[in-house]
Amino acid sequence: MHSAVDFDDLDRLLAAHRHWWQPAPFRHAEIPWLQNHGRAGQALLALSDDDYQSLRTDDSAARRFLCALFPDLRELDRFPEPDAPELPAGFTEPTHMAGRKAAQVACFCNALDSPTGHLVEWCAGQGWLLEQALKQFPAHTGIGLERTLRLCQQGNARMRKRGLSGLLLEADVMDESTLPALDGNDTVLALHACGHLHQQLVQWAPHQQAGHILLSPCCYHLGERRALSRTAARGRLAADSIDPHLAVQDLTTGHSNRSKRQEKAVAWRLGYDSLRQHLCADTLYRPLRSMPGSVWQGDFADFCQLAAAHHGISLPQETDWPYWLSRGEKRRGEVRRLELLRRQYRRLLEWWLVLDAGYALAEQGYQVSVAPFCDPQYTPRNLLVSARRDRP
Ligand SMILES: C[S@@+](CC[C@H](N)C(=O)[O-])C[C@H]1O[C@@H](n2cnc3c(N)ncnc32)[C@H](O)[C@@H]1O
Repeated sequence: MHSAVDFDDLDRLLAAHRHWWQPAPFRHAEIPWLQNHGRAGQALLALSDDDYQSLRTDDSAARRFLCALFPDLRELDRFPEPDAPELPAGFTEPTHMAGRKAAQVACFCNALDSPTGHLVEWCAGQGWLLEQALKQFPAHTGIGLERTLRLCQQGNARMRKRGLSGLLLEADVMDESTLPALDGNDTVLALHACGHLHQQLVQWAPHQQAGHILLSPCCYHLGERRALSRTAARGRLAADSIDPHLAVQDLTTGHSNRSKRQEKAVAWRLGYDSLRQHLCADTLYRPLRSMPGSVWQGDFADFCQLAAAHHGISLPQETDWPYWLSRGEKRRGEVRRLELLRRQYRRLLEWWLVLDAGYALAEQGYQVSVAPFCDPQYTPRNLLVSARRDRP
């Protein structure tokens, strides 16, 4: 396994530091580590809104600030993030495709050095990656596997128009009976295959004798929470102890409406939770199912009624809604500040999950490397597992 991050070392650090990153402040009226680190916790909670915002958007500043309060955190410096490759020379943003996707695709194809056999794109969407790969390697033929017929049709029309031989096939990658058999030695490409989809790829492609597998995973929270490799299963950290949402908690740009709605949702959920704890004399967090999007257009009282019905409790008519909403907003401020510490671990947890996928392929006879394939400004999910079969 070639990687700038050593799995064993990382596994040891994450296991030793689990008390810092495992408990989610959202789920604890009082986060366990506050008991022994009250002073450091108070310093976090006392951050002004402006100071909090600038630490939230500047990881290095947050690291410096937090290291002064929590000296253990200096150990994270043993895992510096490797440099990501630049955009390929001559890259120009196409007009027919979103700029960030075009940059991801260009960098991904740049990592595709001398492919073997047919090119097969896994969960291809409209097949942007397949299209670029075929342009770059015109001697190869290619197919894309995609569940949504409309995306297959759009991609096929586009590739036909450009005179490319690629073909998107309607297939459900979770149902192997819908998948074509590979010829052996083919090259499988997966850009941002969500949790269960990349977990399936790690099993399927080696069985098909794929010669080369390039995989950039994402949405770990949609997969099964289990180790994919024997190496990770033998490690100190159990895969199901990792909160996969934390590993994808990066700042994305250009979604201010979405993040406003998220902030509202957090305050409402915490406000309701404070009310429920008060009424039921229950200090444990009780999860809520995900709510229909229309709920966030309504008001806090209606949301609480819905949540209470889910928990099988009834709320008193005279409930002081503004009071409980302000409790929720106050708790949100506290949760956000305490989360600054936990967020320092999110990239290392992502490395752990991606290295696990890499080892799963290495254990099936592949030479594997894991490294960033593009600058994180194009996608925070920028880790690439590149696996070549040892013996064709
Ligand atoms: C995050 S998108 C990535 C698309 C493309 N690789 C890209 O980077 O633009 C995931 C794609 O997987 C497809 N998908 C989801 N479940 C699938 C399944 N079971 N079988 C095949 N495709 C699936 C979705 O329709 C979607 O196009």
